[in-house]
Amino acid sequence: MDFRASCANTENSIKSYLILVNMIILGIETSCDETAAAVIDGRGDNIKILSDVVYSQINIHKKYCGVVPEAAAREHVLKIIPVIDRALKKAGIKPKEAKKKINALAATVGPGLITSLLVGVETAKALSYVWQIPVVAMNHIEAHIYANFLENEKKEFPAVILTVSGGHTMLVLMRGHGQYKILGETKDDAAGEAFDKAGQILHLGYPGGPLISRYGAQADISKNSGIVFPRPMIKNKSYDFSFSGLKTALLYAVKKDPEWKKKVPAYCREFEQAVIDVLINKTIKAARDFQARSVMLSGGVSANLALRSQMSRAVKENLPAAKFFLPAQKFTTDNAAMVAAAGYFKAQRGEYLPWQKLLADCNLVLK
Ligand code: KG4
Ligand code: ZN
Repeated sequence: MDFRASCANTENSIKSYLILVNMIILGIETSCDETAAAVIDGRGDNIKILSDVVYSQINIHKKYCGVVPEAAAREHVLKIIPVIDRALKKAGIKPKEAKKKINALAATVGPGLITSLLVGVETAKALSYVWQIPVVAMNHIEAHIYANFLENEKKEFPAVILTVSGGHTMLVLMRGHGQYKILGETKDDAAGEAFDKAGQILHLGYPGGPLISRYGAQADISKNSGIVFPRPMIKNKSYDFSFSGLKTALLYAVKKDPEWKKKVPAYCREFEQAVIDVLINKTIKAARDFQARSVMLSGGVSANLALRSQMSRAVKENLPAAKFFLPAQKFTTDNAAMVAAAGYFKAQRGEYLPWQKLLADCNLVLK
């Protein structure tokens, strides 16, 4: 049966689409400062990445030590079509054949910067209208979680996922595909945001996460630096986090220390370890409490090598019944392969939208 045979512009007819066991999905991601498009081939529980193109705007925002929404949106407008064009070509799909070869679109609709989101959403709508194919509206956090599903190793539920990015820090319980419960989240700064602010305090540049990690690795661990930061909320029974006090502790320590510039690696190492200790402690507690069969990491901060290795060890030591998963480095930060993968599993549940219903929502929550 032709997938497009029932393609019309009403939600009901969209829901009655044949759910294809094998689907080619074009993912589109523009929630912050990466313009990304990817094509995946989903078959059963397996994902094959046919192309994955990410254009990062980091060089534009670096000089402002953070993302400037207006500049980000303008750049997305300029790059979105060239990025999609490259993703199609890399996947071996000629633009003329795209409407026949692609079964559905998946676009990030939120959360994120509204002006950035709108570029991806409106582009997806235009393609959906012209190609007459349905769209899946993707939550950015759900997409980050599905970066784990780009690796085809079988995942068992329930899963506990620590999702840590520049905008979010969350512990999520996943009982099955599309079934989420937020166990806890940050009460103030996200972990990535804390890293970025620490990078600013230490005059390292933007984004702070990779820089703090790189400088921290240069610290001389044979000597006691005497620098000790708090582990916020580590003893608190909830699964919530708080990182703004840690950032303030770093700020005051540096202000009081006339020699701080000579000790940047030691400051970085202790700051990084304080964040990691809290993240690991809460993740292990949640995974134990909910008898997780899988523990996963996701989001930009999960690129952090120390977090990856220490979490892996902590899961092995504390949760022998659980398996640990983490996305490949390049799928930790924003990309469209994760959006397409999440879109594929959502499409398998028949959760399409007609183009008219696709709306950007900067405050979209995971449910
Ligand atoms: O997921 P992402 O690309 O964008 C958002 O959705 O926010 O995450 C970006 C965040 C930034 O805050 C960046 O500093 C952090 O991820 N990050 C890292 C590392 N690489 C990126 N944080 C710690 N260590 C890293 N290696
Ligand atoms: Zn992200």
